Amino acid sequence: MNSTLRELRVELGARSYPIRIGAGLLSDIDGFDAATRDVIRGGHVLIVSDEHVAPLYAASVQYVLHRHDAHLKTALFTLPAGEAHKSLDSAAKIFAALADLQASRDACVIALGGGVIGDLAGFAAACWMRGIAFIQMPTTLLAMVDSSVGGKTGVDLPQGKNLIGAFHQPRAVIADTDTLATLPERELRAGFAEVIKYGALGNAAFFAWLDSNAEALQARDSGALAECIAHCCAQKAGIVARDENERGERALLNFGHTFGHALETVCGYGNLLHGEAVAIGMCLAARLSARLGMSAAADTARLHDLLARCGLPTSIPDGTNADALLAAMRLDKKNAGGRLRLILWRGVGRAEIAEAVDESAIRAELIAAR
Ligand code: NAD
Ligand code: GLY
Repeated sequence: MNSTLRELRVELGARSYPIRIGAGLLSDIDGFDAATRDVIRGGHVLIVSDEHVAPLYAASVQYVLHRHDAHLKTALFTLPAGEAHKSLDSAAKIFAALADLQASRDACVIALGGGVIGDLAGFAAACWMRGIAFIQMPTTLLAMVDSSVGGKTGVDLPQGKNLIGAFHQPRAVIADTDTLATLPERELRAGFAEVIKYGALGNAAFFAWLDSNAEALQARDSGALAECIAHCCAQKAGIVARDENERGERALLNFGHTFGHALETVCGYGNLLHGEAVAIGMCLAARLSARLGMSAAADTARLHDLLARCGLPTSIPDGTNADALLAAMRLDKKNAGGRLRLILWRGVGRAEIAEAVDESAIRAELIAAR
């Protein structure tokens, strides 16, 4: 029995699944057996990881799989790291690895890594033989609090982020918080952007908790991190259970993301990390909300200050072209009828969907926010 274990569930009827958060879970054989009962049904498992994570953690996962069932045929497929590899080309390479393994419909994919690997491996699992099981084993803070939960999978195109993808829920999420010890500082900071997003979009009490615990979190205090991850997963699990396919409430999870995705695309994938782009995007959304009279400047300042205390950027990189950003924003998945649909807010904890936002106000904000 793992004393640090926190267990949650995403309630989706027959497709419900557990989220296990705790120290040492990658080598916890009993826990793995319990979480993956009925998931690893066939004889084939493909572990997908990247060049930074695989050397650190793949052996543990392979060992646990072997102990789970010594007859399993497993393979490890390792990709280069980074957003630039979240592509159709990488997905095709995973399909080839599944073919080499002779993976059948009862095969399982394990995504071992950050959000790039989770989105990619999940997308490959969604497509292979029209959908096979997959398990998320997130190893970044960002993936633990956000991307491993909720079933959004996909790849980027040069024209825009996440433009190709599928909703395909994992069958289990196993987050070993010990893996955060090896995460580079910049990647840890990027994860805080998605953490702060939860407070900003719908939970003022959590925002205040983050304000009080920002230093402990950055110092990787294990108790604070575990509490933070569990809180974010619980908030996301609730939203996904109520609105799996983003017909309404789930769109709020994209607070800062329309700006953020445009920044990632225009600045070149990987130059600005996803979390960094979301941090700038949330500031832009807050400032635009104030410009449109929806919120007070004091709320923008609170958000700006917390992001800055967590070492995150809050303004658009010099030399970024406002019109190029606007063009990228027009390809966002939330848009409807050729009009821009953004997530704006009324203040901390009160995000809402704004329809047909005036492009001239957005452009003015993009020019002002440098
Ligand atoms: P990432 O997957 O690129 O990982 C960040 C870097 O850290 C990589 O270099 C990786 O190799 C390295 N790394 C990962 N874990 C490590 C560890 N424990 N020790 C040492 N190095 C480690 O980036 P990310 O921030 O995890 O994910 C960003 C992606 O997630 C973006 O593509 C974004 O669009 C996506 N995302 C998806 C969702 C969703 O709902 N599906 C939500 C949010 C973000
Ligand atoms: N990260 C946004 C979502 O899962 O909906």
